[in-house]
Amino acid sequence: MSSYGKTGRFPFIAPALVIAVGLGFGVPATGQDTGPVSPDLTPKLRDLLRQEMLSIEQASKDILSALIAGDDAHVAGLAQQIHDSFILQQSMTPEDKQDLMAAVPKEFVEQDQAFHELSADLAQAGRDGDRDAQHAEFGRMIEACTACHASYATDRFPMLAE
Ligand code: HEC
Repeated sequence: MSSYGKTGRFPFIAPALVIAVGLGFGVPATGQDTGPVSPDLTPKLRDLLRQEMLSIEQASKDILSALIAGDDAHVAGLAQQIHDSFILQQSMTPEDKQDLMAAVPKEFVEQDQAFHELSADLAQAGRDGDRDAQHAEFGRMIEACTACHASYATDRFPMLAE
């Protein structure tokens, strides 16, 4: 009876742990779960990441200015620029790429890919001259910035950890 009770517990404990890890409760950066990725990067990769971040932040601000001016073509061009930038990929040697894959969890790579898809959707909305869609996609893109920072950059943005 007691051994039955013990094994019966595991299915409840495991999901609870998964949920706790998913919410980032006291989980240090391990390259597996959420937590700041920057400390696990080589100095070169860290520089490339920061460069990419600064350039997409500038492009996002420029998109805001184009949006409120109704400049569809400029929105499209800037969003396409964000999508195509991939500074990380362009300047990476195969060895850098290996280092990156070893340092970051696959969910980080997935969030980056999802982010780049959103920028492509925004570029399309700009080319279509669909302003409602531009506003919606821009909002989603900013949400994606914050979501990734909350999971992987709370060392740089500690207020997102609260
Ligand atoms: C897939 C994850 C991810 C996405 C998406 C993302 N970021 Fe970041 N960002 C990071 C990480 C990780 C850092 C911390 C880098 C460091 O401190 O080394 C960072 C840092 C930054 C910084 C600070 C750079 C510096 O010099 O310290 C800025 C600004 C920034 N991001 C802007 C943005 C903006 C704007 C967006 C969306 C348009 C965005 N990021 C989307 C992961 C992401």
